[in-house]
Amino acid sequence: MKIIAGNWKMNGTRSGLESMVRDLETVDTENQVILCVPFTMLGVRSDKVALGGQDVSEQAKGAFTGEVAASMIADTGAKYVIVGHSECRQYHNETNNTVRNKASQALANGLIPIICVGETMEEKQAGKTMAVIESGVRESIPSDVSTDIIVAYEPRWAIGAGLTPTESEIAEAHTLIAKTLADMGLGGTPVLYGASVKGSNAAEIMSIPNVDGVLVGGASLKSDDFIPIITSVK
Ligand code: PGA
Repeated sequence: MKIIAGNWKMNGTRSGLESMVRDLETVDTENQVILCVPFTMLGVRSDKVALGGQDVSEQAKGAFTGEVAASMIADTGAKYVIVGHSECRQYHNETNNTVRNKASQALANGLIPIICVGETMEEKQAGKTMAVIESGVRESIPSDVSTDIIVAYEPRWAIGAGLTPTESEIAEAHTLIAKTLADMGLGGTPVLYGASVKGSNAAEIMSIPNVDGVLVGGASLKSDDFIPIITSVK
C-alpha cells in the first residue's frame, strides 16, 4: 500500500473537486488517496478519498485575520494538512521552527501533518543537501509526536520544474530521512517523494527503497493525469 497525495495548490473549484472525487471513487486500488485542496473546497465528502488542507495557522484561534486554525480544518472532516511546503517556506519565509509549530497545531487537533522538507538549488549546489534534509526532519517535527505523521521529501529545485533527481539521489535522501526518523523514535513513519511526479515516472519512483508514496502537484489536477499515478502501483 502506498500513499498517493495530491496537492492542488491554488487551483480548482469545488465542483471540479466533486467530479474528481467521483472519478477517483471508481478506481480499484488499495492505496491511500489524499487530496490537499484550498480551504474553500474542504468539506466534500468521500468514503475513499481523504481530504487535507495545504497550510495551517501556528495559532490555535483568535485575532489572526486571514488565518485558518487546525481545529477549523478538522471541523470540515479533513484528515490531513500539508505543513512546510516549499512554496510556503519560500513565499512566507517559513522556518523549520514555524513548520514545527504548525505541525503541533495539526496534531493537537487530530490532523495528520504532511511535513515537507527539501533543499533549494542553491543548497544543492553548495553540497548541503543532506544537512538541510536532516535538520529539516529534526527541527520541523514536534518532539512529542505520539500519533501518525507523514514526511514528504521535496527537492525544492525540482518542484513544478519538470525536473527530477536521479534514482540514487532519491534513494540517498529517503534513506537518510528513514534513519533520522528511526533515531528520533519515529521509525515506520511514511516518507513521500514529491516533485514533478507523473504517470510515466511514478512506478519507478515508488519502487525506490524507503519511498512510501508520492506528493503530486500539477499532475493531480486532472483525473486523466492523477489516476495513472494511483494505479501505477498496487
Ligand atoms: P509538482 O509539485 O508535482 O507540480 O512538481 C509537487 C508539490 O509541490 O507538492
